[in-house]
Amino acid sequence: MWDGLRKHHEAVKSRQISDLMVAGRGEDFRATVGDMMLDYAKTNIDAEGRDLLVGLLEQADVAGRRAAMFGGAAINETEGRAVLHTALRNLDGGPVMVDGADVMPDVLATLADMEAFAADVRGGAFAGQGGKITDVVNIGIGGSDLGPAMAVKALAPYHDGPRCHFVSNVDPADVAEVLRVCDPATTLVIVASKTFTTIETMTNARTAMAWMGEAVAEPGAQFAALSTSEEKTAAFGIDQSRVFGFEDWVGGRYSMWGPIGLSLMIAIGPDAFRAFLRGGQAMDVHFQAAEWAENVPAMLALVGIWHNQVCGHATRAVLPYDNNLSRLPAYLQQLEMESNGKGVSMDGADLAVESGPVVWGEPGTNGQHAFYQLIHQGTRVIPCEFLVAARGHEDDLHHQHQLLVANCLAQSEALMMGRDLDEARGKVADKFEGAELERQARHRVFKGNRPSVTLAYPTLDPFMLGQIIALYEHRVFVEGVVLGVNSYDQWGVELGKELATALQPIVEGADASGKDASTAGLVGFLRGRGL
Ligand code: F6P
Repeated sequence: MWDGLRKHHEAVKSRQISDLMVAGRGEDFRATVGDMMLDYAKTNIDAEGRDLLVGLLEQADVAGRRAAMFGGAAINETEGRAVLHTALRNLDGGPVMVDGADVMPDVLATLADMEAFAADVRGGAFAGQGGKITDVVNIGIGGSDLGPAMAVKALAPYHDGPRCHFVSNVDPADVAEVLRVCDPATTLVIVASKTFTTIETMTNARTAMAWMGEAVAEPGAQFAALSTSEEKTAAFGIDQSRVFGFEDWVGGRYSMWGPIGLSLMIAIGPDAFRAFLRGGQAMDVHFQAAEWAENVPAMLALVGIWHNQVCGHATRAVLPYDNNLSRLPAYLQQLEMESNGKGVSMDGADLAVESGPVVWGEPGTNGQHAFYQLIHQGTRVIPCEFLVAARGHEDDLHHQHQLLVANCLAQSEALMMGRDLDEARGKVADKFEGAELERQARHRVFKGNRPSVTLAYPTLDPFMLGQIIALYEHRVFVEGVVLGVNSYDQWGVELGKELATALQPIVEGADASGKDASTAGLVGFLRGRGL
């Protein structure tokens, strides 16, 4: 199948995407779920290419693997774990079995506990020493930070609870900046860590506990914990009534649907949080039921595979024309790159194709005035992924939203159409002539033929955010199965952690001479300047 795709790519690579734009292509090269639409008409994929891509799904038995995932099989083979973040949003989907036991009663009981706690915090029944909670500080990193931080920002228009802050970096500047604006007497600290061992999180949690202890008689009473480890949360001094647990079949970067989403639930309220879960669940239903060519996660994955593994475009820009999604690219960097940034396939053999793409981006229109220059005229092709809503939340400023939408659509059109030399000459013919006209015109040429997809939806409400995040999760799943990697481990983060632990005594003063010459030199330089 890969060979067929490569041959097909060779045959079509020099044609213009704009030449494919016959009437009806907009309808043919789209996939929809509910009120969300993925347009992939502005790519070089034609009906034959799509068939070949869908063939990859069949060859890799994505359907079988999908059934195994939803069915609770241990598809995270290197860690011997099931992958069941979908159970966290399975509000009324019936039993989900892991090792012969239904996990749903526990999932729903934890959800109810979170809802009761969130209602107490929001309503004032849970009050700190100061008589009410005005600020919530979530301390976590990676999946215990990026998901809720992204979602709290995404759903800012629905935020009617206490202020939410996120501390992740071990750099003391991060925790200090947040604690400076909070009053310990009215702050709830949530320590979010699946393992409850992550050095950044535990260091920041201890710093926050000390800060709280200076002003509050019972600092531990204003802490909650989100973790799979009852033992470690208890050892840290957090009462079990404020510990919200989950199982190891929820991967860190897939965990915002459960306890790790507590800060989001406190911010927007339990009902809106349920709407977020319902959006995720709706995407799960669609992903399991829709034919491949109509299946939004599958098609989004296949377009990505076409651009990366077939066309050789190593990066992908995620460009939300939705300012509230400003943290989406950072969230997706972990979701996609920690999941599919693998060099060996499930059986341990070297990967026969490239791993998942480098994902990056910023909201539009800001990016237009920063890096779009390279996207339009740089030598590398960067497939772009636009996200845009029909309406914002500022009804009185809808005309401004329309300007945003016009910009989004203009960018995908400009990337596809480009501007040829003749047209460029016409733009400057009144100012220059002869050789200078040629030179000036060449700087104004856009080669065009640059692919993009657009995800369009009515408005970014909790349900839609749930759909979008579950869409990206399933996209990662499909890509991972097709590439043959385990999307659910992350051994690539371990070496750095081990070496940091070994380096700590050295940065604190121990002999650095056993280190490589560069590292020893850096330690020496920093020591000489106050390390
Ligand atoms: O180091 C990577 C990682 O394990 C991520 O996968 C995870 O999301 C993050 O660290 C935080 O882990 P924890 O929630 O256990 O603190």
